[in-house]
Amino acid sequence: MVKRDGYSKAQIGLHWLTAALIGFNYLYSEGMGDALDARLEGGAEPTLGIIPNVHVWVGIAVLVMVVLRLGLRMVQGHPAAAGTGLTALAATWGHRLLYLVLLVVPALGAVTWFGGLDATGEPHAFMANVILVLAGLHALVALFHQFVLKDGSLTRMLRSK
Ligand code: HEM
Ligand code: HEM
Repeated sequence: MVKRDGYSKAQIGLHWLTAALIGFNYLYSEGMGDALDARLEGGAEPTLGIIPNVHVWVGIAVLVMVVLRLGLRMVQGHPAAAGTGLTALAATWGHRLLYLVLLVVPALGAVTWFGGLDATGEPHAFMANVILVLAGLHALVALFHQFVLKDGSLTRMLRSK
């Protein structure tokens, strides 16, 4: 894996755009259960004050961006995890876990919606909550690094190198 001092502009842009779109889709999900029921019953999708297509396509955009980001990580490289020993190991596995749920959530959503599989709907919604908890912890750790340990972790996700 290529090592570099910081993240590229594209990696930083994709990080913040993904975070924003996940927040958006989380808030813009109410009524998806009813829309799915209507779709599975073969009827017209109900007007629920939310357009199911927006949730679906924003989610697919997240999936595409995460795949792109993993590709960029391999081609352009990435900095070594912050910390040493156990803390560096925790950062590496924390990021791997985030990538995993970032792939799993939209993939489960897609199987539910396009595959018409009711059974994966609940795991999708549950895992979306898991993303939120993990991302919240991740943000707290990032702020701790930046303002308590003062190791410039947040700066490297703001300024490219
Ligand atoms: C990565 C971004 C995504 C996030 C954060 C997200 C979040 C959520 C949340 C929180 C719910 C629960 C809504 C509720 O019960 O009120 C939900 C439901 C749903 N989402 Fe997503 N979603 C994402 C991507 C997708 C994608 C890509 C699709 C389809 C291609 C999709 C399809 C659905 C469907 C069909 C439901 C209803 C599931 C059910 O009630 O059984 N989502 N989503
Ligand atoms: C849904 C929200 C978020 C997701 C899914 C997410 C995901 C990720 C992932 C997967 C990485 C690893 C990048 C890599 O090495 O390829 C990362 C890095 C990073 N994230 Fe987030 N993030 C989110 C929100 C935030 C927020 C709100 C902050 C700041 C308060 C933040 C700060 C950082 C920092 C500073 C790094 C770089 C860590 C380092 O390499 O030292 N992230 N994020």
